Order: sequence, then C-alpha cells, then structure tokens
Amino acid sequence: MRITVVGCGYVGLVAAACYAELGHEVICVDNSAEKIGALQAGETPIHEEFLPELLKDYGGKTLRFTTALSEAVRASSVIFIAVGTPPCASGEADLSSVESVAREIAQSLTGYKVVVEKSTVPVSTNDAIRRVMSLNKGARGAFDVISNPEFLREGTAVIDFLYPDRIVIGSDSERATALLQQVYCPLTDGSYYKRKDAIPAPDHARIPAPLVLTSAASAELIKHASNAFLAMKISFINAVASICETVGADVEEVRTGMGLDSRIGPRFLHPGIGYGGSCFPKDLSAFRAVARESGYDFRLLEEVTRINEEQKQRFLRKLRKALWTLKGKHVGVLGLAFKGGTDDIRESPAIGIVESLLQEGVEITAYDPAAMDRAEQVLPPTVKFACDAYAAAEEVDALVILTDWEEFANLDLRRLRPLMHYPIIVDGRNLYDPSALTKYGFFYMSVGRPDMIPQRAPNVRRVA
Ligand code: UGA
Repeated sequence: MRITVVGCGYVGLVAAACYAELGHEVICVDNSAEKIGALQAGETPIHEEFLPELLKDYGGKTLRFTTALSEAVRASSVIFIAVGTPPCASGEADLSSVESVAREIAQSLTGYKVVVEKSTVPVSTNDAIRRVMSLNKGARGAFDVISNPEFLREGTAVIDFLYPDRIVIGSDSERATALLQQVYCPLTDGSYYKRKDAIPAPDHARIPAPLVLTSAASAELIKHASNAFLAMKISFINAVASICETVGADVEEVRTGMGLDSRIGPRFLHPGIGYGGSCFPKDLSAFRAVARESGYDFRLLEEVTRINEEQKQRFLRKLRKALWTLKGKHVGVLGLAFKGGTDDIRESPAIGIVESLLQEGVEITAYDPAAMDRAEQVLPPTVKFACDAYAAAEEVDALVILTDWEEFANLDLRRLRPLMHYPIIVDGRNLYDPSALTKYGFFYMSVGRPDMIPQRAPNVRRVA
C-alpha cells in the first residue's frame, strides 16, 4: 500500500519505518527541512533499537522523506497524522498542528483517502478533523477520518510497534476500516512473524497481533485511559513505597506479592523517582481537561500527578538525610534520560532533580549513556559531564542513580568504592540488592526499602 506519515517525531518516524518493514511504500513528511535533510542523509535522529537498521534497509527505497505534504497525499491512499500535541497552559492538548495538517490534506485530496489520527488526542478530535477538512474543500465521500492510537514506548518502540499488545482501529466507516486492516494485515494474520528476517520477538509477544475494532470516540479514549491507568499504577506503587519506608517493609517484596495476582500483573509496578517523558505527564493533564470539559471532575488523576511530583521531593530529602547539608557537596549523577534505553530528557525526573541540587549549591558530575548531548543543552554550564559511570563517581560525596539503564545495574562495585570520597549511593531506581551493596562497604539508600549501612562484620545492620 502507499502510505503517508505526517510528522517525523518518535511515533511518526518509528511507525513509518515499521510500515516499510511490513512491505508498504511509505512517504514520511515533516515541515522541518533540517529534520528531513538529516533523514535523507541517512541519519537516525533518535536513539531507538532497530531503527537505524530499518532506516538503512528502506531509506531512499520504499521509505522516502520529504517536506512536500500535498504531493505525498496525492500519492497515497492512507495518511497518518502523527504530529505533536504539546500541552497548552491550561493543560489541554494544543491541536493546532493537527488542524493545519488536516487543512492541507483536505486541499490536496485526489480520490478517496483515509486520514488516520495517530497522535494522542482528546476524544472527538476525529469529528473536529472531519469538520476542518469539510470546510477546506474536502468533499463528502472523498475521505474518512479514523483513529488508530499508538501504544509504543520509547526505547522499545520498534519492538512495541511490530509486536503490539493490540492494534486499535476506531472508525465509523467500513471502507476505511478495511483499508487500515490491510495496512496491519502482516501483523494480524501473523505472516510477518513467519519471515526469516523478522525482527526477533520479545518475551510474551502476542502472535498474531490482536485487533480491536471500535468507534472513533472509544479508540481516542482507549489511548488516554491506558496512559492514565499506567501512570496511576506507578503512583500507586510509589505511594506504597513511602509507607514501606515508615513501617520498615520492603516495597520490592510487596510489589512481587502484588504482581503475582493475575488481576494486577507485575508490569509498571516499579517504584522510583516518578514517571516522566513526553507522554504520561502531558496525557494526564490532557485527560483531566477532557474529563473537566465533559462535566466530570477526575480528581483521581490530580492525585496521581501530586504523588508523582512528591516522589522527586522524597528523593531529595533522602539525599539530604545521607549528606546532612547539600551546599558545596559534590554529587555524581548516573542517568539523565527519563528512563533507560532512550536519549529523551523531556519531563525527565532526573533533570528536575539535578536542577534542584544545583539550586542548593551542589557540584554535579553527570553521566548518561545516551542523553548527555540533549542534557547539555538544557543544564547550566557548571554541570560537568563524565565519560562513564566510574568517572562520574570520582571524588564524589554521594552517587545518585536516576535512570534505570542496564549498565548502572551492573557496575563493578569493587572498582567503584575507592573512587568515591564517601561511599554513599542513593538509588532512585532500586537497581541493587541492598545487602549486596553493603558487602562492598557502601551506605545504600533506595526507594521503599530500609536504608543500609556497611559493617566490618559480615552482618549487615538495618537502619530506619
Ligand atoms: C508511554 C506508554 O507506556 C506507551 O504505551 C505510550 O504509547 C506512550 O507513553 C505514548 O503515549 O506515546 P513512554 O513514555 O515511552 O511510553 O515510557 P514508559 O515506558 O511508559 O515510561 C514512562 C515513565 O514511567 C518513565 O519515566 C519510567 O521510568 C516510569 N516508570 C515506568 C516507572 O517509574 N515505573 C514503572 O514501573 C514503569
């Protein structure tokens, strides 16, 4: 099939590359000439596993990049809108990019086209797109607008796209649904997974990919409700972690016990310094705004956000407890990305914590395997960047772990210990077994678990 994807951000670029992987001819459009130039030159603008390989295999062949939206629309039968929907000051999603793309698509229509909203949008955006297109020369019957939300996560985006938990198509038109089913056919009939060159399946992959057909409004709500529910799960376990700290329980034991209940499940129950990224914080406030507009006061979501903010403050209090005063102290920071496996620092709790520490007069040396270039652009020049985790730990009064990169969970503790001024680790991601760390002589504080102090004798004393 001939497909256009408008927007070369995370969702758009990954989706475009994956549609090419499924055998379609894809044109990826963006209004940033710089971005398109870089993609045409073979660059991969984001850190994402398997994406460079897909861009290399299909770039310039069945995957082309352009700024010319009208031409792309004319050449395609399905057009995905995957442009940004950043939050306005009121918390609502700013849909101006979606609107201007819809307008231009309407003015470029030749023959029947399916316009698919893939950006995360408030319920009834589908109707709004249809209206705008009708007002801009989009003749009745010349197009349908449908919703096909995307559930990929950064860091595992290609795998999530090709091995989805579900594909949701929200449409009130049979013709449009049939076309979109064709787009995803290699995943829903399982033929992609039989290919020798298929990207390998993750554990627990659902093969073939389940298809959920809904109304457009339901599809829009599925996306918002899913993200809000996942964020709620994270805030819930973070609240439980706070109770664990005061009653002396271990949140890792609690979440294991909870997660084994098949009705709850173990995923998205990892406590930490709170969720970040370009989706959960933005989508939660957008969903709250949608609820407010529909006459429902969704206070539960407000609480989810409050717990998430509080989690950063709790972490800072822990570091203060470990170091007594912060002014003039030297802290090594491991991790700046909002989560492991990505170079994205948008709404990263790690960046927020570093900024708070700087305000309190702390000297920072930071390391992140992928996000340092981006972090350098937003952090003040006083922050030093190290070439690896060990260099970040040199002569520090404490080392803090802020991102769950796998390499931070596998540090050579024997090598690390003598590098540090004080052997204090404050782990915001619970990457270590506390008793293992104390054996190497570290003071270790984590989230929802007792603080541990080292002892000369083999026994480890629990404090707090
Ligand atoms: C999220 C959703 O998981 C995707 O399904 C959705 O498609 C995407 O938003 C989107 O709307 O585009 P993403 O933001 O890439 O994906 O990242 P997640 O893996 O969901 O992590 C979000 C944040 O929650 C990170 O800061 C992560 O560290 C934190 N987190 C996640 C926890 O603190 N604990 C957990 O157990 C899981």
